[in-house]
Amino acid sequence: METILINASDEDGIKTAAMALKNGKLVAFPTETVYGLGANALMPDAVKRIFEAKGRPSDNPLIVHISDITQLRDLVSDIPDIATRLMNAFWPGPLTLIFKKSARVPDVITAGLDTVAVRMPQNPVALKLISQSGVPVAAPSANLSGRPSPTSAHHVAEDLSGRVEYIIDGGSCSVGLESTVLDITGSVPVILRPGGVTAEMLKKVLGLRGVVTASEVKGEEKPRSPGMKYRHYSPKAEVILVSGDNSRVVDTINSLSSEQKNEGRIVGVLCSSENASLYKADVVIPVGSKDNPENIAAGLFEALRKFDDTKVDIIYSETFTEQGIGKAVMNRLKKAASGKIIEV
Ligand code: TXA
Ligand code: MG
Repeated sequence: METILINASDEDGIKTAAMALKNGKLVAFPTETVYGLGANALMPDAVKRIFEAKGRPSDNPLIVHISDITQLRDLVSDIPDIATRLMNAFWPGPLTLIFKKSARVPDVITAGLDTVAVRMPQNPVALKLISQSGVPVAAPSANLSGRPSPTSAHHVAEDLSGRVEYIIDGGSCSVGLESTVLDITGSVPVILRPGGVTAEMLKKVLGLRGVVTASEVKGEEKPRSPGMKYRHYSPKAEVILVSGDNSRVVDTINSLSSEQKNEGRIVGVLCSSENASLYKADVVIPVGSKDNPENIAAGLFEALRKFDDTKVDIIYSETFTEQGIGKAVMNRLKKAASGKIIEV
């Protein structure tokens, strides 16, 4: 299949892609978080193609994207009060809400669950595409399963060229990490995946009712967000995090690097831009400024992808602040490292 690249400023191109989307084709498009791989959410056969193109396990459900609040009524069986408050505060934007689903939502989207994830993205190109298609759009991140999510059209093409009909190039994603996923179907709202809308921001709107994160929910047999059980965001090389006082972290990474080099391995380091010149590894990739979690979030997936273009065998990574979106940054980084952290 030939994949056609469309520039986001090409109005006719967007119209063509919107019609193709409506008619069952796959269209990758920019959002403020990461690029999405879209299909008409009301066409099960089109949605199935998303799983094939990505190599995604079919038990991992998809987020349905809308451009107008009126589209929500058809997709869900109930709009709780709390949803209205959250949507007023954060939509359009990087917050995905889990609702009880309506009969109209095909099972292939929800992997058979009785709930559905819905989000209204903020990116104007995404909103235009969805509204011109006239249908709700099912879209996971537009990467091959297990690769870091794409934050540019180039990343999408690397993974999905020849597997999808259209890629819309809207430049780099401003947030750079996927949306916060919040389950509002139970008595307490639960953050299933941290993202651009932080727990502090949610608490301000929810007041006393508060919010908990999924790891605090005890006694559950299966993860509520099926996607969280898969190894994710992984560069090809092994990733090990090193955490602690800054100068000790630098010293430790440098001595581990030289040990590895002596054994013939090629070593990479992922670090803050402030520390980049202090490392003696083969490949040093700065991800952003230490004091600026937004900056690190925006650069993280690109940095992880860059390591895949090198021949590194092992990557040592600094850890970063968990303030604000930093919590989501560290969530992704810990997954990339499969939880391996050296405390110094
Ligand atoms: O920012 C984003 O959310 C991006 C852009 C494209 O919108 N999309 C995205 O989709 O990250 P994906 O498929 O890569 O991640 C969706 C996450 C998965 O962890 C999935 O398991 C969870 O949302 N999810 C989807 N439907 C769910 C449901 N009904 N209940 C619980 N979790 C659900
Ligand atoms: Mg994904």
